[in-house]
Amino acid sequence: MTGMLIQMLDSWPPSRKTRGMKRRHFLKSLAFTGAAGLVLPRTKLFGANAPSNKLNIALIGTWGRAEAHFGGLATENVVALCDVDAKHLEFGARKFPNAKQYVDWRKCIEQKDIDAVVCCTPDHTHAFIANWAMNRGKHVYCEKPLANSVEEARVVRANYLKNKDKLATQVGTQRHEIENFNRVRELVLDGAIGEVQEVSAWGDRKIPRPGYLPAAGDPPANLQYDLWIGPSPFHPYNPGYFSGGPGANCLSWNMYWDFGSGQVGDMGSHTMDLAWNAIDAGLPTAAEGRGDPFNPDVTPVKLEMHFDIPANDWRQAIKVSWYQGGALPESPARYIDLHKIDHGAMFEGSKGVLVANFDTRVLYPLRGEADLTYYKPRTKGTVLPPMGNFQRQWINACKGNLKTSCDFDYSGKMIEMMLLGLVAYRAGKKLSYDGATGLCKDCSEANELLRRTYRPGWTLNG
Ligand SMILES: NC(=O)c1ccc[n+]([C@@H]2O[C@H](COP(=O)([O-])OP(=O)(O)OC[C@H]3O[C@@H](n4cnc5c(N)ncnc54)[C@H](O)[C@@H]3O)[C@@H](O)[C@H]2O)c1
Repeated sequence: MTGMLIQMLDSWPPSRKTRGMKRRHFLKSLAFTGAAGLVLPRTKLFGANAPSNKLNIALIGTWGRAEAHFGGLATENVVALCDVDAKHLEFGARKFPNAKQYVDWRKCIEQKDIDAVVCCTPDHTHAFIANWAMNRGKHVYCEKPLANSVEEARVVRANYLKNKDKLATQVGTQRHEIENFNRVRELVLDGAIGEVQEVSAWGDRKIPRPGYLPAAGDPPANLQYDLWIGPSPFHPYNPGYFSGGPGANCLSWNMYWDFGSGQVGDMGSHTMDLAWNAIDAGLPTAAEGRGDPFNPDVTPVKLEMHFDIPANDWRQAIKVSWYQGGALPESPARYIDLHKIDHGAMFEGSKGVLVANFDTRVLYPLRGEADLTYYKPRTKGTVLPPMGNFQRQWINACKGNLKTSCDFDYSGKMIEMMLLGLVAYRAGKKLSYDGATGLCKDCSEANELLRRTYRPGWTLNG
């Protein structure tokens, strides 16, 4: 191993043609040998900010949510920018003037020196960009939600699992870094509520819309509208899809089936993560959903979805539920008003109930006999360590151990469950689901809803 390393150092820097491949191999080898104690850590060899320690990153979607990544990305080499809106591309280029510019992400991803991709585009393109990037050997950070259909979630996860020894992935559920996530997990795992039985998460955001917006003239010259529509069925241009401020424009399009999955993929990604992080869940064996009457254009505002989650090695089988738009689980006590928690999670166990929002938690022992003697709080030395900055965790993972908290396996399964719930809502019945095949048993109409139909010329797994 040391011999190989010396050879690689000798041939550094590589020729331009082979740079992408060799760099990635080199960064990983260094991290590996550093961990094995055979050579000095990379930072000592070159200094933490030496060019050779930096990733070459493509940022796809350069305005809006992308801005939240600018600080972290500035520590690396942003070598490519892509946006379908020339003004937004210009916005990104002001921050990263040396990057090459693209309007079509399919061309951007082909740039040879790219090590890693950060995807901040609308939801209906996420799985495409994630797949195409992984298929070209790039690490991926993809904003939430990872997918817009059950099939998309499964294809992305399968591609990640094939490449997990080479690639670092992270879904943009950055609230995961809040230490309360660890505290909630510890309480559940350590038995503060006894045997966990039922877990719910909810969000109260409501964005009602009657249907797709009517045609409203030509798109502005700065916007490549056909590329914005991308793989989705065509809907005529309307400025209403672009009327939100930076980082909030997703609320102008994410409730339409062809562009998003409403609150299921939006705040559902963050809030179910608070619950899912504490239960080590696999795919559900059953799903059901009910809510607002079905609208073929728009996802429901009010909705509840229920899942049967199999047992694992530390807990029994449990029910997991998602509530939104005014639907809520029943409170365990009159004086715990769940309406006052805009986005939260509740864990019901044999001895108590834990209610949490992103930052705080409250433990409610059930009845007099739940005296908490069965529960031993952790000592300072055994609490789960803080994960630090969420985006930084991925950057470090790309350069080293590939480990992230919300990789495409964990987050892929979670969004698969959530999107299956939407299928159950549309099918109008409880579905029996086979996580191994990704098919519903005895329900062909539900199986039709597991996938989206794409416009000609767009390949999900290209
Ligand atoms: N993690 C979070 O807390 C958080 C917060 C806000 C948004 N988001 C997510 O970030 C994503 C973007 O949200 P937003 O509000 O910034 O949306 P947006 O509509 O502003 O789009 C973001 C950028 O992507 C560009 N874009 C659109 N289609 C593109 C394409 N095909 N190729 C390249 N660029 C394209 C847009 O022009 C824009 O500059 C969404 O998926 C959303 O769910 C996450």
